[in-house]
Amino acid sequence: MLNAHLVPPSKWVARSQGSIICLVCGIAGYVGERNAVDVVFDELVKLEYRGYDSAGVAFIEGTGIKVLKKAGRLSELGKLLGETSPTSRSAIAHSRWATHGGPTDVNAHPHLDASGNLSLIHNGIIENYLDLKDGLLQRGHKFLSQTDTEVAAHLIGEEYEKGGTLEEALIRAAKQLRGAYSLVLLSAIEPEKIVAYRKTSPLVVGIGKGENLLASDVPALLPYTREVLVLEDDTMVVLTKDSVRYLSGDGRELPVRPIYIEWDVARAERGGYEHFMRKEIHEQPDVVRQCLAGRIDESGQVRLSGVFSDNVWNEIDRVNIIACGTAYHAGLLGKHLFEKLLRLPTDVYFSSEFRYGDPVLSPKSLAIFVSQSGETADTLAALKLCKARRIRTLGIVNVVGSSIARECDRTLLTQAGPEISVASTKAYTAQVILLTLLALHIAQVQEAPGLRIADWTEELLALPNLIQEALAHEDQVIQVAELIKDMPLCFFLGRGPDASVAYEGALKMKELSYIPTEESPAGEMKHGPLALVQSGVVAVFGATEMATLDKVVSNMKEIQAREGTVVAITSDETGTVRKAADHTITMMPSRLEFLNSVLSIIPMQMLSYHVARLLGRDIDHPRNLAKSVTVE
Ligand code: AGP
Repeated sequence: MLNAHLVPPSKWVARSQGSIICLVCGIAGYVGERNAVDVVFDELVKLEYRGYDSAGVAFIEGTGIKVLKKAGRLSELGKLLGETSPTSRSAIAHSRWATHGGPTDVNAHPHLDASGNLSLIHNGIIENYLDLKDGLLQRGHKFLSQTDTEVAAHLIGEEYEKGGTLEEALIRAAKQLRGAYSLVLLSAIEPEKIVAYRKTSPLVVGIGKGENLLASDVPALLPYTREVLVLEDDTMVVLTKDSVRYLSGDGRELPVRPIYIEWDVARAERGGYEHFMRKEIHEQPDVVRQCLAGRIDESGQVRLSGVFSDNVWNEIDRVNIIACGTAYHAGLLGKHLFEKLLRLPTDVYFSSEFRYGDPVLSPKSLAIFVSQSGETADTLAALKLCKARRIRTLGIVNVVGSSIARECDRTLLTQAGPEISVASTKAYTAQVILLTLLALHIAQVQEAPGLRIADWTEELLALPNLIQEALAHEDQVIQVAELIKDMPLCFFLGRGPDASVAYEGALKMKELSYIPTEESPAGEMKHGPLALVQSGVVAVFGATEMATLDKVVSNMKEIQAREGTVVAITSDETGTVRKAADHTITMMPSRLEFLNSVLSIIPMQMLSYHVARLLGRDIDHPRNLAKSVTVE
């Protein structure tokens, strides 16, 4: 990777780190004695591992602001900058993953306000941007892009024109914004400062001597400083080359307490974690928040944009969910929901079987394609088969602009951010959440009897905290991992939705630790798999479905009677499961039983991770596997 700040713009060519298709916006800011444009471009290069589909820079030029931005790779922006070799003492820059509006030059950040003197870059989602945009349009504002960011820029510009400092204008505007976002501003009126606000989406400040920097992630700062201020939620900073002011969301001064970063760049890219997988497991509370952002309104109703019209939902007579691997396992939970909540017949197919199986498809059916990468060859081929038969298609995809996202009639984005580890974790959780929102959306349209949507959405909004609580039991999981790491075979068992989660838990264990697994509904054991049980064999049970708990306990005893060891993952608070199992990992229960099954994947992910870690496996790159299987 070239250090662009050591090379003049004319020679800038940022080599991509390869084609990992992953996506979260990169934020960069600089104010100080160096050429700010060089520095912020170099910061974006350091953040390239996060993935993006466009990039841009705003800098002070004379008495105004200049914005240069380009869709595509950083090298495209580098060429554009190389044509003029701009210099400035303050600049902000951004690499964008599209959520609202496609990856185009116009939609790339930074965006300007109506005056053209204020530039904004943004990471996250502003949920109420359409309402804000209506008001601004009525007040005569004109917009060039489809983004929520440009709306925010105009809103902040309006506040700025009312007087006061840039930070005061930002405080007033932030009170009108809803969502999860980080905002960074550069103004031609106060050219020597950068102002930023953090609400959920991460922001860090690099504190230098005669210079200060801003970024969405630590790696971008390390070539310049290791003194880092990590912004808390609902706080902001005002940077000049000689000062860092840290403020609360309502403008109160806060103490600046930087930390010293010991990590090397590689470790910094993993957020300090040893492996991307463990980082991504622990990102899941925020991933669920991001996936839900803007999709549940204040009355607790689901608000899904970009899906089919209501009459289509009333016409659909069958759902086929088509996917591979982890995405297929998310589809199994989708089947459970569509049949339980909507009484809608639903089948889940492996893409590789569907594409060659000459499936029987009802003309009024809906085909849902679940895919993290959006590039899986078998799933893409299955999609093309459905389109050839004029079946309606809906994508549930993490990568905007990917082939499956583009080919489907409609696409819902999981917004899980970059999933770099080959073993899928947070994408699975986001896929399940999105399938749940889709089922609830259809239930709203069909006015499904006896279903209180607000009860479901209330529990969905509470899920991130329950995931956080499950993650807090990692020490308990590590103890179990140390006890079972030498097992010759690991069963994953459950009933109802717990059986679907068991399949995903088994995939995690086998692909990470290389230990053979046997996964099935617990009731199937006696029809064959029980023959495999002997001393040393472990059976991991997901035990959250109360209606069948006594049956699951009996299945546990079947295992133990043949000298097998039982590990239970449960939200049962009666103590029944704890008494029956050899080892128990507990979770705080949701009031919605289905979500307890979803929660049970968290301990399973951690268990597989720690068994593999203890066995010294190559966790982020398991043997024989690829992150996106773009070949048959
Ligand atoms: C799961 O941990 C694996 N990475 C693999 O099974 C993956 O889920 C499968 O290849 C599907 O990938 P996709 O979601 O990108 O289509």
